[in-house]
Amino acid sequence: MNRIEGRVKVTGLATYAAEYPVEDVAYCYPVQSTIARGRVTRVDAGAALAMPGVLAVLSVDDPPGLTGDADAELALFGSRDVVYRGQLVAAVVAGTYDEARAAADAVRVDYEPQAHDVRLRADHPGLYRPEVVNPNLAPDTEKGDVEAGLAAAAATVDVTYTTPPLHNNPMEPHAAVALWAEDGRLLVYDSTQGTSGDRDAIAKTFGLPPEQVRVVSRHVGGGFGSKGTTRPNAVLAALAARAAGRPVKVAFTRQQMFDLTGYRTPTIQRLRLGADADGRLTAVEHVGYVQSGRLVEFAEQTATPGRVMYATPALRTAHRLVRLDVATPSWMRAPGECPGMYALESAMDELAEAAGIDPVELRIVNEPTSEPDSGLPFSSRSLVTCLREGARRFDWDRREPAPGLRREGEWLVGTGVAASTYPARRWASRATVTVDEDGDFVVQVAAADIGTGARTVLTRIAADCLGVAPDRVHVELGDSDLPDAPVAGGSMGTASWGSAVVRACEALRADGGQGTADTTEEVRSDEELARHAFGAQFAEVRVSSVTGEIRVSRLLGVFAAGRILDAKLARSQFIGGMTMGMGMALMEETLTDDEFGGFLRRDLAQYHVPACADVPAVEAVWIDEQDGLLNPMGSKGIGEIGIVGTAAAIGNAVHHATGRRVRDLPITPAKILV
Ligand code: MOS
Repeated sequence: MNRIEGRVKVTGLATYAAEYPVEDVAYCYPVQSTIARGRVTRVDAGAALAMPGVLAVLSVDDPPGLTGDADAELALFGSRDVVYRGQLVAAVVAGTYDEARAAADAVRVDYEPQAHDVRLRADHPGLYRPEVVNPNLAPDTEKGDVEAGLAAAAATVDVTYTTPPLHNNPMEPHAAVALWAEDGRLLVYDSTQGTSGDRDAIAKTFGLPPEQVRVVSRHVGGGFGSKGTTRPNAVLAALAARAAGRPVKVAFTRQQMFDLTGYRTPTIQRLRLGADADGRLTAVEHVGYVQSGRLVEFAEQTATPGRVMYATPALRTAHRLVRLDVATPSWMRAPGECPGMYALESAMDELAEAAGIDPVELRIVNEPTSEPDSGLPFSSRSLVTCLREGARRFDWDRREPAPGLRREGEWLVGTGVAASTYPARRWASRATVTVDEDGDFVVQVAAADIGTGARTVLTRIAADCLGVAPDRVHVELGDSDLPDAPVAGGSMGTASWGSAVVRACEALRADGGQGTADTTEEVRSDEELARHAFGAQFAEVRVSSVTGEIRVSRLLGVFAAGRILDAKLARSQFIGGMTMGMGMALMEETLTDDEFGGFLRRDLAQYHVPACADVPAVEAVWIDEQDGLLNPMGSKGIGEIGIVGTAAAIGNAVHHATGRRVRDLPITPAKILV
């Protein structure tokens, strides 16, 4: 299906958070800390308050009294402590954006700075084992004897990979417009991946009952995780509106987004693998070192993919976390799986070379019969089919095993492979279906369409279930006054909302007038199984022997993600994820500023992402996977698996082209030429 909102988007009529027309709106501009650690001793707002149009200055000098149980990152201006550079310490509200920005420049903030530490190191004395890693997994697992497995192996690798901090950079910045009604109800137009959760978080922050808050977010220009939890833009708009007695608009600049909307933690990952003479794994050890901020703990599940991927008699996975004077890391497309699979799948390529076995075959011989860590059966698992299909399409059997042999003029050409995986979960959701006066069907669910095509796929799901044409179904989403729904995140939006939509449609068919559904019980009684999507990523790269420039001449992803509900939407998700994986492999890197704290490279002139010219050939295909143990649609999530494994496939291809193994991302020309 074409996207239902495609026309309004390309004609500029789709309304994003900062664009809602609101009478008498004022503007708020933040003031951010210039130190990474210490205390604010004084905020002098005198000059700012005297400037034209200024309505109010919010700051730590006058804490707004947000509730103590609010998320520490949302309890704005509640403490004089500075825990990272770029933290909000004040904000100015004025009649126009330019007045607010000019006055924000005039707010004088004095600090008592302390020494800061913003650098993740594998030998950092502050490293500790967190109680759990996201999303509530054991930090460490151990099965069998890794040392014995390594000692008995015919081939081993012991390698360390590093990945830098990364930022999501959705096209639409984090923005919000807040309006307090006469009766005290708060309306927030926010840019969010879930209006129900956003409403709850805002209500909690202000100490309001949830029904006193409404969040509307009809169109969202990308999120990738950065809008999965409530961000300060929403709270700031509401605080500013309360202070000014007028509706207030906040739109973060691209540079502010680098400080205030989360990022993917940098990682240091040590992999030790052993294989016998036939390539069968004898041991897998994956230790991930990641960082968090001081305000709240965020422990990314970087080292978990080995728990899912390969059969081995000995498996150890571990996470170590350190709290630094940095902003708290957050969700970024396939958090955990993406950097974790980069390291595991790069190490598998190194092991294949050490063992003298083809990298596709190495993965196939280590295919497990049940989930390696838990022992649970898979609901379905088609990794081997994906690998074989990709190898066929990529003419893998004609590949020269040794690196550095294919040359076309100045260009060295190589190919690489990596596996991909992502969990297939679902959460409880509600939905309602009614019949309107034209006899059409209206589906209501507080789902979020963050550019994925959620509106369209839910239309198709409802139309299929009702046995009518899609143009007779109208989906309403993006509003917390609609039936409660979980976040568009974790690649489980469609599975979660779609289950509720199917049940609501079934109820309507049974009863005629209206169908309502709440899948809480259904989801709770889901059988315990290993549910994951799998895929195989293949890359061909050309590396200039003169400049070190790397061009990805072909990317192929073969995915097994249950039933694909709509080919056009799915292809977009897959190639989008793969393109983002290419950025991770070759370009994306937020530099940490040791000297002053915070991040260097805070805009798209310096933080590079692939442009169209960088992606000449991206193909995403899938195999038909029948899995009746997932949800009524038989689908697995597809939002995140596309990014998983892409960076490893490209890095492995760079090695095949050049013989050079770059173990820290991104793989830039400078690292090729050294
Ligand atoms: Mo995705 S990082 O779960 O929005």
